[in-house]
Amino acid sequence: MKVLATRRYPGPAFEELRDVEVGELRPRDDVEALVVANDPVDPAHFPALRLVANFGVGYDRLGVGELHARGIAVTNTPGVLDAATADLTWALILAARRRVVEGDRRVRAGEWSGSWADGFLAEELTGSTLGIVGLGRIGSAVARRAEGFELRVLSTRRSSGTPLDDLLQQSDIVTIHAPLTPETHGLIDVRRLSLLRDGACFVNTARGEIVDEDALVAELVSGRIRAGLDVFVHEPHVPESLMSLPNVVLTPHIGSGTRQTREAMTRILVDNIHAFERGDELLTPVR
Ligand code: DGY
Repeated sequence: MKVLATRRYPGPAFEELRDVEVGELRPRDDVEALVVANDPVDPAHFPALRLVANFGVGYDRLGVGELHARGIAVTNTPGVLDAATADLTWALILAARRRVVEGDRRVRAGEWSGSWADGFLAEELTGSTLGIVGLGRIGSAVARRAEGFELRVLSTRRSSGTPLDDLLQQSDIVTIHAPLTPETHGLIDVRRLSLLRDGACFVNTARGEIVDEDALVAELVSGRIRAGLDVFVHEPHVPESLMSLPNVVLTPHIGSGTRQTREAMTRILVDNIHAFERGDELLTPVR
């Protein structure tokens, strides 16, 4: 099966693809399978296309409806990135809540003078309330790690759990773990952001579009809340006004960015391609 991959994906499994070419998503009439990282696919550009193997769990940009309508199968890589994404969530929670990056900048700028006992205080993590929006695999991995920090955990999943507005009002830390769907697009809007407590810490390792980014930026510029952000609406563009803010920690969409996790993601997508070639059931089909 002729495979076009948008890049050489990490790990040894990629080398098992027999007829693979690495290149851009330009129109091709010989390509039967595409390997992409949540890139929009126009099936009209690939008349022989039968499979799209997505590197990643989120497939919101692929155009799955149109692909399925044309009988093209789609797979993703769920499960293997839960731990890495939960770990990064905690890195952002700790960094933002305990002012780690601000402290690092202070030291490097030679601004640390006087005694450790003079100011530069943060908010305690232990004993605070964590609100998890989206208690799926990744949200649950975040919740398990919260036990070690002795947090009170609130969570909401679709229409169950703590009502979203109550969760936002009661939490010291709010973290987003919902997939991007028409229902979650703009879920955290300007009104809901205003429900956050003064000094609350807002973390997003899911998708930028779940939050009204302009409203979030305004809250951060005002200094009312803190944030740890791994995802943005127009990646790799990050709103300019966030760049100089001390109360936000920024990372470049690295939730799944460990060697082990990215290699495991490649393993799954290659296994899906092999299963498809054999006519076997797909391991992780997007339905
Ligand atoms: C995914 O898998 O959807 C992530 O955003 C990649 O880290």
